[in-house]
Amino acid sequence: MRIFLFNGFLLLSFVVAPVPDVSVDSSECAETMDQKPLSNTCCYITANSVLEARCSVLKSHKIPLHLNPDIRVLNITWTQIRILSNNSLHPYKKLKFIYLRYNFFHIIKEAAFANQPYLQVLDLRNNFCEILSKSLFQLPYLHTLYLGHNQLYDSVFKVNATSPLKILQLSNNKLSVIPNIGLQPTLLNLDLFNNRIISISTENLAPFCSLKSSI
Ligand SMILES: *[C@@H]1O[C@H](CO)[C@@H](O)[C@H](O)[C@H]1NC(C)=O
Repeated sequence: MRIFLFNGFLLLSFVVAPVPDVSVDSSECAETMDQKPLSNTCCYITANSVLEARCSVLKSHKIPLHLNPDIRVLNITWTQIRILSNNSLHPYKKLKFIYLRYNFFHIIKEAAFANQPYLQVLDLRNNFCEILSKSLFQLPYLHTLYLGHNQLYDSVFKVNATSPLKILQLSNNKLSVIPNIGLQPTLLNLDLFNNRIISISTENLAPFCSLKSSI
């Protein structure tokens, strides 16, 4: 039952995510854009005193480097950016939420998140990632990691994850075993839907001692 509920939640978030998930009047974004046309299609939104930069359909193949360095949310969708390099996020040191759905990311370089000590949520769904940075799993506040619909193989998860993960979403990848990422006492939701996993042993699940739902 839980599985279906969780699956339903994911399905819902899949449909709802492209629409602003904070209560924001989209004209506010357009208005800010008029005042400060930083790049073709980036604009700022402030919701609950949290500053978000929202960019979509950028012509450039890089993450814009001249946004307000105080942004806490970076939301970039529908671009053709392929590589998140060591310096891509360098100017933004206060990010708590990074949403990068529906892009063309293939490679996440090792130090891409090195200056992101406050990162809590990373959404990389619907990309083409084959390689992830291992240091991503060492971030001190990262609790939610959405990696569904990528090209991730087992080798990506040869890592001891020390981030306090609560949600790890890995559906629609190329995994053949349950990732062995060390003891995960905080993990509540593990989603492995639509991978290549044929068998599961209790040993595989033992490190995930707090799981409430898994697929
Ligand atoms: C990116 O960072 C990693 C880890 O610090 C380093 O090994 C690599 O050489 C860097 N890559 C570039 C292109 O600077």
